[in-house]
Amino acid sequence: MEKKFTKLYRVWHWLLAFSVLGLLITVALRKTFLSWRTNSEIIQTQLSQSGIEVTHEIAKATAKAIRSGMWEWHYIFAVILVIAIVIRIYMMLTKKAKLPIIVFLQAESRDKLKYGVYMFLCFFILMMTISGVILYYHDLLNLTKDTVGWLKDLHEDMMYGVLIFVVLHLAGVFKHELSTKEPIVSKMIHGD
Ligand code: HEM
Ligand code: HEM
Repeated sequence: MEKKFTKLYRVWHWLLAFSVLGLLITVALRKTFLSWRTNSEIIQTQLSQSGIEVTHEIAKATAKAIRSGMWEWHYIFAVILVIAIVIRIYMMLTKKAKLPIIVFLQAESRDKLKYGVYMFLCFFILMMTISGVILYYHDLLNLTKDTVGWLKDLHEDMMYGVLIFVVLHLAGVFKHELSTKEPIVSKMIHGD
């Protein structure tokens, strides 16, 4: 394998980090400030205080319309994530990187924990991408309502896997930065 912090490796890492953090932010907004459940109630209450009664359906459609501009970013970040995955596949095909599971299996025992975290992080990100793309094209793929519902639940539940391993990764990076002399974060930005 080539030197670790090459330009391509850094581009791959930051595209991956940027897109995953972006995707997590869109989900956080969807579940809080732009939640259709909360906002449809606000719409109904506010309008009714002004003497305008709207049905639950109209309030729900309005809340979803307000959310939709933000949610487009879920798909924009998804495209960036797919580009990062394609770069990683290219790196693996040209022997510039290895499959995370192989890196884990070949790692010395003192590095197993670190590479174990990367392996699970990459696994969950890949699963999110596959399930997300299938969900996005569910009409084209003629999926049944049950399958779409199952995929949605899977996509949503696996997000917690991504969250847990992102937090473990960041904790590991900061611990390394603080407890050793190697400036690992600046190496990931500027190179070796
Ligand atoms: C959601 C966000 C992030 C994801 C998904 C992510 C993902 C990854 C992955 C998969 C690796 C292992 C690469 C490999 O060797 O195959 C890695 C390494 C690394 N990441 Fe991140 N990363 C994220 C955010 C960050 C942030 C914010 C920082 C800096 C503060 C950072 C700093 C590093 C460093 C320094 C390494 C190299 C560690 C080493 O080889 O010892 N990452 N990252
Ligand atoms: C780390 C990556 C990702 C995370 C954490 C993530 C998270 C989520 C979550 C939690 C939901 C459910 C939101 C809710 O119903 O409240 C969701 C929905 C969805 N995601 Fe992702 N996602 C990721 C990647 C992707 C990718 C790569 C795509 C590909 C296009 C995608 C497409 C979708 C679609 C189509 C939905 C359903 C939207 C709807 O029902 O309105 N996601 N995502």
